Amino acid sequence: MVIMMNLVTLITITLSVALIVEGNLYAAFTPSLRCDTNNQTAPLPTPTYGTGGIFSICTEQIIRGSIQHIYTTLLDFRAYATWNSFVVDVQLPDTVTTASDVYLNMPMTFTTSGLISGVNTTSNEIVTVLSAPSPGNQYAHKAIAINAWRWDDGLGGLGRAEHPNLLTDLGDDTVRYISYETYYGVGGAPVYVLHTQLQEAFERQGKNLKDFIEGVY
Ligand SMILES: *[C@@H]1O[C@H](CO)[C@@H](O)[C@H](O)[C@H]1NC(C)=O
Ligand SMILES: *[C@@H]1O[C@H](CO)[C@@H](O)[C@H](O)[C@H]1NC(C)=O
Repeated sequence: MVIMMNLVTLITITLSVALIVEGNLYAAFTPSLRCDTNNQTAPLPTPTYGTGGIFSICTEQIIRGSIQHIYTTLLDFRAYATWNSFVVDVQLPDTVTTASDVYLNMPMTFTTSGLISGVNTTSNEIVTVLSAPSPGNQYAHKAIAINAWRWDDGLGGLGRAEHPNLLTDLGDDTVRYISYETYYGVGGAPVYVLHTQLQEAFERQGKNLKDFIEGVY
């Protein structure tokens, strides 16, 4: 009887928690976030800044390949020029050559192409999450990997943005890749005028990654 009661209690608690999580899908960052297909600019929460964003851009790709390979490719910034048509150059600290040299809070400068016709734009970025696909990592799952970086506007955080890459091993030799960026603050608001170009650039970048991984896998 006691065991029965406990089972019922357990199921009730589990269901309640599941409902709370479901009802607040966008209340907190979770590795299982997806692009909001109903509203492409709806702000998704990020690991560092959480909710309260102004807008997001988001792309989703199903990539045939290994989660570790995709995770490493995203951190192999020196190779971006060979596959990425959006981030065409990354300036890194001298000590950083390969993906395994990348560290938390590492500063880097992205050169991006295609946002404003005929002009390359640059942005300072700082690595915020390095959660490789192995048990015991920050998000503790061998089928989930996350890396992320945030935009440093140099204005003491008036404009904030963070770009997480969420990888989920789907168990059939494919990986779901969710790549988004959420903009925050008064300095993030003006970037909204570029959201269409940013969305296109993110989709292009996602397809570039898929082509690159599937071509060499
Ligand atoms: C979509 O998201 C934007 C935020 O970028 C918000 O301003 C707008 O109200 C949302 N639209 C709908 C229909 O929910
Ligand atoms: C943008 O950067 C790329 C890669 O560094 C370079 O090849 C290209 O000429 C640059 N374009 C402009 C308009 O400066």
